[in-house]
Order: sequence, then structure tokens, then C-alpha cells
Amino acid sequence: MPAVDGGQALLERDAALAMIDRRLRDAIAGRGSLLLIEGPAGIGKTRLVLAAGQHGRELGLTTLSARGSELERDFAYGLVRQLFEAPLVAASPPERAELLAGAAGHAARLFGLAAARDDAAEALLDPSFAILHGLYWLSANLGRRSPLLLCVDDVHWADQASLRFLHYLGRRLQELPIAAVAATRPARSADGSPLLAALAADPSAEVLEVAPLSQRAVAELMRLAFGTGVEPAFAAACHEVTGGVPFLVRELVRAIAEERIEPTSAACSRVAGLAPRAVSHSVVQRLSRLSASARELARAAAVLGEADLRLAAGLAGVDPSTAATAADELAAAGILEEGRPLRFVHPIVRAGVEADLPPGERAGLHAAAVGCLANEGASPHRIAAHLLATDPARDDRVVDSLLSAARTATANGAPDSAVAYLRRALSEPPSERLRPDVLLELGFAESYAGDPQAAAHLKAALDIAPATTAQVSVTLALGRMLQIGGRNREALEVFDRTRARLGATDRRAALTLEGAALGAAQFDAETAGDAAQRIARLRRLAEEEPGVPPSVFGMLAVAAANANEPADVVARLALRALDGAPKLLPEAVDRPPFFYHACNALAFAERYEKLCHGSAKRWRTPAGLVPCRTCSGSRAIALCITCASATSPTPRPTHAWRSRPDPACPACTPPSPSPPCSRRSPSAGNPRRPRRPPSATVSPSSSRRRCRQDG
Ligand SMILES: Nc1ncnc2c1ncn2[C@@H]1O[C@H](COP(=O)(O)OP(=O)(O)O)[C@@H](O)[C@H]1O
Ligand SMILES: [Mg+2]
Repeated sequence: MPAVDGGQALLERDAALAMIDRRLRDAIAGRGSLLLIEGPAGIGKTRLVLAAGQHGRELGLTTLSARGSELERDFAYGLVRQLFEAPLVAASPPERAELLAGAAGHAARLFGLAAARDDAAEALLDPSFAILHGLYWLSANLGRRSPLLLCVDDVHWADQASLRFLHYLGRRLQELPIAAVAATRPARSADGSPLLAALAADPSAEVLEVAPLSQRAVAELMRLAFGTGVEPAFAAACHEVTGGVPFLVRELVRAIAEERIEPTSAACSRVAGLAPRAVSHSVVQRLSRLSASARELARAAAVLGEADLRLAAGLAGVDPSTAATAADELAAAGILEEGRPLRFVHPIVRAGVEADLPPGERAGLHAAAVGCLANEGASPHRIAAHLLATDPARDDRVVDSLLSAARTATANGAPDSAVAYLRRALSEPPSERLRPDVLLELGFAESYAGDPQAAAHLKAALDIAPATTAQVSVTLALGRMLQIGGRNREALEVFDRTRARLGATDRRAALTLEGAALGAAQFDAETAGDAAQRIARLRRLAEEEPGVPPSVFGMLAVAAANANEPADVVARLALRALDGAPKLLPEAVDRPPFFYHACNALAFAERYEKLCHGSAKRWRTPAGLVPCRTCSGSRAIALCITCASATSPTPRPTHAWRSRPDPACPACTPPSPSPPCSRRSPSAGNPRRPRRPPSATVSPSSSRRRCRQDG
């Protein structure tokens, strides 16, 4: 068989290699970048990523690699784990502690190196953000040891959480000794992920489009395969049918050799008949000529994705020594790569083998894979990837597995993965016992992922949620969603309805809901009068009752600020919100609004010291960072300024605050040539404005306001 193995020749890629070389050398000099290699399947992206990795090692960069997998695209942080697990595992305990020092520690739980978050301050961070920030710092810490190269292939199959990380990191590489080289199929395709499209469109990413090979290069590949006797017309015909896509050229060479066609002009018409119409067709044909064990092993490997021989043999139902021979057969037929673990020569070949499986058989193999992986003690997420591809069977064990994988994904800030697991769990369908949990987790995950279906699932969960805590959590999440959509009146109804339903059974829950209702009432002109009464009642209770939840104080602080009450009053209420929440509240499942309310109120009251030391230090949270993600306009800018002027308890990348505003954050978009996040004194950021007259209701205006500094 002639060899047109790409490992032997890499044609017409000098410009691409030169660009990669420049990016790697820039990274060594401390100027990192993200290079996105883009092109259709088979065009030669993987070859370039491999070349980058090899060159990186030659230049002395620490090179970490990962590759997306079609099967595991819902595996939360799958790519991130591939990148960082190896260096963390290889590190000695003191080295590991150094790598995970400071904010990098937030990422530790992803690698099973720290207990799940267990304190309120941690819980108050949006988990996805905390982990992104942690991963950023882990990368920075690795880069501090030696310049770093991250090679990520098949990003079009990346899980959303890993994509988010790449996006986050890519925008912050300029001042780090880190080069990232990532490859993807066309990122802006209709069926592609919007996040991937955003990554490719981001000004911080440099896109390198991989061009097809020229006719000359195809002729050269033919010559390498068949020797000197390749006639130009024959090579031209090969170029035409393959479009210069190297993978197709490779497949064509194989087919030509199998058909024993001479590479002469006379045979040109036969080349058209071999057109890689179908690689999948030719793969299936090739398989049909192999032994039954080889066929079974290929199918098992196609279902498992990359797999070790023993696992694939178990799934294929062949003994390990027969499987080893079968793997050799498959390698000789150009279906699998040589060596272990079992890996297809190209994802197109894997897809061809999988597509040849009838749907029922494929689902059955995935179900069997679940059993094999469970016996091997595989991670819940690896198992969940296969459960997603099984047929529903009213099996609560399936629902349980998916629920637990989803909970981990949500807790790790990967709600998109959780949504995929839970939708599949819902279609199982779950028993009456598990249905409330599935709906509740699904509604939450969808709301974190910004999916509009969240409201319907949360409503359904609310109808059947058995426990008070769950009802309060769902109500708050649902109300918050409605409020974000501007549906304050509906949110108010939801809060009040649950409060009425709970009656006097749980005073604290009732007060929490009353505070939330106040938040909704304030923002609707028709309920503004009602809001004034609610404020008065809650203020009275706040003075008299000991168990008023902090969320209520947060709301009252904002109301006081908006009513232009004295700054001292506003600050006192805000601090009671921040000080009084030592434990996770029912509403603190992810992003408790009271935290933002209290921070904003402190900013309005110009209690910057308190804001920085009371929230940033006490809560170990970069205060500006959190509100920036949720608030808009000048308020968030005020917090940015405040935070930037505070002494940070943990090291942070200066550029994140000083020279480079976050383009994803509306508050950080520079309104003027001076960056909003620059280090400025608080007073410089707060010009005096005419006072507004006192008002009982709140206008959601984003104009900068300040409180009366009476005292
Ligand atoms: N520039 C090139 N010259 C010769 N062969 C190439 C070239 N680029 C890729 N190949 C070969 O083509 C096949 C597909 O390349 P690959 O990098 O896997 O494509 P992609 O990752 O874009 O799907 C591989 O066998 C590879 O060795
Ligand atoms: Mg590839």
C-alpha cells in the first residue's frame, strides 16, 4: 500500500508554520496570543496543531494538549481537564500548592483536588465565573514556571464550559507568556455553537484559515505515493475530485491502489468514479472485507470514541488477544491508527463506521458501554455521555445517574452540560419520586444558561416541589427570571402566591419572599404605591424582628438609596445585608441578588472603604467583578473604580483592571479614551451632581446617583 501519510509530508504550510513560530516566540517574550486554525474536515488542521506542539517543545515551552470529541461534547470542562490534569498530577505536593495558589484554587475542585465549595463566600460567586477565574490563574501560574503552549484540537466539539474558558483566557493572554493554538471546523457555521462563533469573531483571536492544497501539491502527494510515473493529467483529475483537501487525497490514493489503477492520463475518468463521495461508503466497504472481530471492534471503538483496547474488546465481545489482532487488521486497512489507545485515523472515518450502525444497535451499544464504563469506575460524566445516546426506558437508575452528573456540572458552572443531561432525564421519563428534582434542577440549569425554557420548567417544578426550601428556591429563581425579562408584575404575583401558600409555617421564608416581592414591586409604575407600603412594613419589621433575612436588608438598602435617604441609613442597611449572611440562603443557589443590592447601595452611599473591605475582603470576592457582570451603566463602573483602588487580598492580573476593560462587560466598555477600570481615586470617579428630590419609589435609571451625605 503506498504511503501518503501526512506524517511524511507537510506541503504548502510554510506560511502557517511561520505564523505559529512567531506566536510561540512572542509568548516566550511574554506576549501571549490565541491563534485559531480554522478549516473544514480533512484540510490539515490537526497536522498544524501537532506541528505547533512539536515546535513548542523544541523551543522549550511547556506544551499541554487537548482534543474535542464528538461523543463528549456535553462533558463539562472535558477539554480543560485534558489540558491541566497531567501537569497537576505530575506536580509534587508543594508544586501543586504553588500552581493552585491564590485565585487558582477556585479551579481545584474540577480536578478532584479540593472539596466542593463549603462556605457562603464561595457560594456567592457565580461558580462558572469563579472557575474561569481560577483556570485563568492556574494558566498564569503555569506560565510563570515556564512559557506555556496550549494546543487544543477539534474545538468545534468542545463542551461549552471549556469554550467559555478559551474565550476568557484568549482575551487575557497579551501580557502572559502563554500561546494558545486551537483548531476548529468553520466556527460560524449555521449549526455551530454561538460561543464558538463569538470566539472566532473576538478581536483577541487571530484566525488562520487553512487553504486547500494546490494542484501542484496534490501532484507531489501522488508522486510520493506512486513514484515518478504519475502523469500530470491524472494528478489534475485527483486535485479536482478532492478539491485539494489532503484527507480526501489520502483516501483517494488508497482507493486507487486498491483498484490497481495506473496513474496515467488514460485512467483520469476512473478517478471521478472513485470520488470520495464517500469516504464513509468506502470505509464501510473496507470494513466488510475484514474479519468479524475487526468489524465488531471497529463498531465498539466508534461508539466509545478514543478507548483502550480492553474496554473496546469487552464491548465488542471479543477476547483481548483476538482484539489485538483485530486492531492490527484495522490499522492495516487505514481505519485505526497504529498503537494504543484505539483511535480512528480521522474523525470522518469514525463517523462513517458509526453512521453504518442501525439506530437501535447504536443505542444498544451505548447502553452496553454504560455498563462497561461503570465496571471500570469511570467518571459520572463519561457515563452520562453514553446515557445521552441511549433510548429512553423509564429507568430511574438512568435518571439518578444523569441527575448526579447534572448537579456536578451545575455546581462547576457548566449549566449547558447539566441542561443536556436533565432534558434526557426528563424524557426517560422519571418516576413521580424523581420528577420534582429533575424539573427543579433543569429549571435552575436553564436559567443559569439563559435558556427561555427555564420559566416553564421552574413553574412545573413549583407546582410539585414537596419541600418548603425547594419552593422558596424555585420561586426566587422564577421571579428573578421574570424580572430580568422585565415582567415585574408576574414576578410579584409569583412571590406573593408562594408566600400565601406557605402561610405562617415558615416565617423566615415568608420574609425572604416579601423582600423579593418588594424588589419586583418597586420596578413597576402600577405597583409603586404598593412598594412604598411594603418598604414601610419591612423597615418596621427589620427594626423589631431579629430573624429578618439579609436579602431583605439588601432590598431595603436599595430602596433607601433610591428614596434619597441619608447615606448613613443606606450604608447601615447594606452592611446588615452583607454581615448577616454567614450561611447559604435558599436563594443563594447561585447569585444571590442581595449581595449586589448591598454592594450597589454602598456605592451609592459612597462608602467605598466599606464596600472594598466589607465585601471584597470579608467575602473574599473582588467586589467590582461580581456586580460588573450583572449591573449596567455607571453603577458598575463606580464599583470597578472602587475595586481597582482597593488593595487586593489576592494577586490579580493588573491588565484585567487597568489597561484592558473586559469587552464582554457592558460596564467596562470604554465610554471615553480613559479606561473605566483605571486606577483612580474614588472621589475622582464621582463628580458632584445635583440632588434628586426624595422619592418613595424607584426608577430603574442607570444614571449615576449618590445618597444624601447628611451625617
Ligand atoms: N499540508 C499537508 N500536506 C500533506 N498532507 C497533509 C497536509 N495536511 C494534512 N495532511 C494529511 O491529511 C490528513 C488529514 O489531515 P488533518 O490534519 O487530520 O485534517 P483536519 O484536522 O483538518 O481534519 C492527514 O492524513 C494528514 O496527515
Ligand atoms: Mg483534525
